[in-house]
Amino acid sequence: ANKMNGFPNDFLWGGAIAANQTEGAYLEDGKGLTTVDLLPIGEKRFPIMLGKLPSFSPLEGEFYPSHEAIDFYHRYKEDIALFAEMGFKTLRLSISWARIFPNGDDEEPNEAGLKFYDDLFDELRKYDIEPLVTLAHFDVPVHLVEAYGSWRNRKLVSLFEKYSRTVFTRFKDKVKYWLTFNEINMLLHLPYVGAGLVFEEGENEQLVKYQAAHHQLVASALAVKAGHEIIPDVQIGCMLAAGMTYPYTSNPDDVYDAMSKDRESFFFIDVQSRGEYPGYAKRFFEENNIELEMEKGDEEVLKNHTVDYIGFSYYSSRVTSTDPKVQENTTSGNVFGSITNPYLEKSEWGWTIDPKGLRITANQLYDRYQKPLFIVENGLGAVDEPNADGEVIDEYRIEYLREHINEMREVINDGVDLIGYTSWGPIDIVSASTGEMKKRYGYIYVDRDNAGNGTLNRSKKKSFHWYKKVIESNGENL
Ligand code: BG6
Repeated sequence: ANKMNGFPNDFLWGGAIAANQTEGAYLEDGKGLTTVDLLPIGEKRFPIMLGKLPSFSPLEGEFYPSHEAIDFYHRYKEDIALFAEMGFKTLRLSISWARIFPNGDDEEPNEAGLKFYDDLFDELRKYDIEPLVTLAHFDVPVHLVEAYGSWRNRKLVSLFEKYSRTVFTRFKDKVKYWLTFNEINMLLHLPYVGAGLVFEEGENEQLVKYQAAHHQLVASALAVKAGHEIIPDVQIGCMLAAGMTYPYTSNPDDVYDAMSKDRESFFFIDVQSRGEYPGYAKRFFEENNIELEMEKGDEEVLKNHTVDYIGFSYYSSRVTSTDPKVQENTTSGNVFGSITNPYLEKSEWGWTIDPKGLRITANQLYDRYQKPLFIVENGLGAVDEPNADGEVIDEYRIEYLREHINEMREVINDGVDLIGYTSWGPIDIVSASTGEMKKRYGYIYVDRDNAGNGTLNRSKKKSFHWYKKVIESNGENL
């Protein structure tokens, strides 16, 4: 049979984690509180995430999973050794802004925080694992929320620029791959998570969200500018929560609706990658009384400092319909609601499983931006039950990943420039949406439950050995 070339030799295989979902040690060595540290597990979680329930300090009687998470802060050497054993070429992680600037607006950075990441990057380098670092993964120093209203305030732009310049300068010899804002489009869906927004009664929430988005977009461009100035051979990307929206039928109304839904997300990347506000966004603003405050020079900054590559997460595709009857049949999925796709299965959390959707999504992104792509999240959140021998035989996870990696090969053979693949949560970590430990993505099992019980011991699942072979064979042995 005709065989295309498949994965290039320098393909970056690895895994992805985030500070707030792994590190724990939430107030150690001078770290300040961040927004995620105020997200309890349970019924208060979603109202806070939506910006509907203000919260400025931990509440009695609530359990906050980020406070200890999986204690990566103290155990990272053990964990990185396991990643190295699987043959990781890269590890995606995030820096917690509040470890570097505990209040966000401090004069001087916190040396203990910088030192932690210095040591962490050295540990990765020891195994030739390339760090891929996100500047902001769903966390804002809480002081910035209280003092300024977080990203709704222009002030955050210069504070974030200062933070970026500080870490770029410090780590310029150790980190070449960066991402600015994790899943920047999530701001529209979970405004507290994406941007630390808390709404006031009666205000135009869309206006606040897009104003915050403008500030993040300018801050992202200024980070790109700073990175290009400070770090030799740097690659700075944006990060989209991706996943095509399919029209439920061929009715042009459905097709147009699907296109519009995708544009809600593409909007961010259009600005970050093409360097200007798209026409459809301007129309949307006009029709919804969204008058953005921009400073002189913003447009130029956006135009001149576009990203080097497009990072994205892919978990599922979505379906949309303009027919109210069809709309009743919904499912969850990476927090964006969706209509159930009758052709596809769902995960235990209702996320649609659609490997081919990865091929469609990646091709669509490449057609649109013509820049290298990096799949920086993908995976299956599932309940894992250790068997009598204490082993987790996670065939379902292997199957999910196998099918997605197969499609990834197709993506490359389609001619897309794909840099790498970091599957989500290579070690079990706290779920961003629900705060659960029960929703696991890992190749490595962590003994800890939703209530925080457990030894925190690490053990290898079946998928650990499988992923090791995948990397060893450069994606041939699936
Ligand atoms: C993405 C986030 O939305 O999906 C991650 O960038 C998150 O932080 C991941 O963990 C999976 O979502 P969840 O809710 O299953 O943890």
